[in-house]
Amino acid sequence: MGNLGKGDTKWFTHDRFGMFIHWGLYSMPGRHEWIRHYEQISNEDYEKYFERFNPDLFNPKEWARAAADAGMKYVVFTTKHHEGFCMFDSKYTDYKITNTVCGRDLLREVVDAFRAEGLRIGLYHSLIDWHHPDFPIDDLHPLRNHPDRKKLNKTRDIAKYRTYLHNQTREILTNYGDIDIIWFDFSYPKAADGKGHKDWGSEKLVKMIRSIRPNIIIDNRLDLPGSGDIITPEQNTPDYEVTDDKGKPVVWEGCQTLSGSWGYHRDELTWKSEKQCIDMLVNHVSRNGNLLMNVGPTSRGYIDDRALSRLQAYGRWMKYNSRSIYGCGIAPKEFPEPRDSRYTYNPETKRLYLHIMNWPFKHINLLNLGGKVAYAQFLHDGSEVKMRENGGGVHSSLDCATPNQALTLELPVVKPNTEVPVIELFLK
Ligand code: GLC
Repeated sequence: MGNLGKGDTKWFTHDRFGMFIHWGLYSMPGRHEWIRHYEQISNEDYEKYFERFNPDLFNPKEWARAAADAGMKYVVFTTKHHEGFCMFDSKYTDYKITNTVCGRDLLREVVDAFRAEGLRIGLYHSLIDWHHPDFPIDDLHPLRNHPDRKKLNKTRDIAKYRTYLHNQTREILTNYGDIDIIWFDFSYPKAADGKGHKDWGSEKLVKMIRSIRPNIIIDNRLDLPGSGDIITPEQNTPDYEVTDDKGKPVVWEGCQTLSGSWGYHRDELTWKSEKQCIDMLVNHVSRNGNLLMNVGPTSRGYIDDRALSRLQAYGRWMKYNSRSIYGCGIAPKEFPEPRDSRYTYNPETKRLYLHIMNWPFKHINLLNLGGKVAYAQFLHDGSEVKMRENGGGVHSSLDCATPNQALTLELPVVKPNTEVPVIELFLK
């Protein structure tokens, strides 16, 4: 297979928290970004959205500010989703943003605005394309139940689509400045008429990408072993350390939604609570992962209140607690997490962060930390947390015996006013 190179993930595992943005024509029907699949909509019937897409309230500076305020350090923006519509000015298609009423290259505006806020830039590009005339109809395609599926497929030439895919990849990687992540989505070689690395020309594609941007991070959805710099579980948070088949820890990023859809969905109601959102971030970092949290802006171009309020909740929490996120990862295995808690650890500062997800009464015992902590404080306000070694307090004769080597922290009865309190432990 030859050398596929490696991306630079150093900044990525430090920054930990990014914003995914799913935005395309599907924000108009507002019924999920897979609407063409679910409702089996032909190109002709989907045209009404192309003809009317006009996000008059689009202000990418507001998006970028919302992301930065939430503590997010990078963005991954959809240049094209499965519907095939391009949010950038491509010379290889007419099915693009600059040919709509809007008429502007929105990718450029997004990239400029997020860079100005200091965020790194990732581009999501769909391998699947339900609009392109050469993309063979498979079991995911809107025309999968067309009576002439076989006949239609005779004139569809995947080699031509492959060239289109490679050309557009080159465009988005050369026309928009330094791109830090390319996020392809997705392969499904096992499905009927499914597609994988041969269809995409994955090996050649990766080599081309590396020749343009040697250090770019490439995700793992090209169906090409060895080509992925990051593992990308979605709608699922691994609660263990993620490793390769030899047991070596891998770099991973969970991509998640605030509600049950990636694209704007007006009527979807499974919005996560602010607490759940913060728990998710902590859960990812505590297992050495990144969190890529998604927003789906409306067709008028703004992030609606339901999403915005959750971003603001991140911001309120991150303002005081981000030290337990940036530069942090999984804690040394010798320190088992107490009940209802997660550790993160910063190996450079040797500080261990205890996230208390469910507030206990007065004490928490930290196994194997007896004699190992020099100082403890709440992270949100820097106030000291008193420690006792092996249960030795005023009422020690009444205390239940704590296991050997445990360190007991004395907690206020009332939970501090921060969604998930964090205790910063300075290891000796
Ligand atoms: C899926 C879906 C998609 C979404 C993506 C994000 O593979 O096809 O709609 O863009 O996951 O990870």
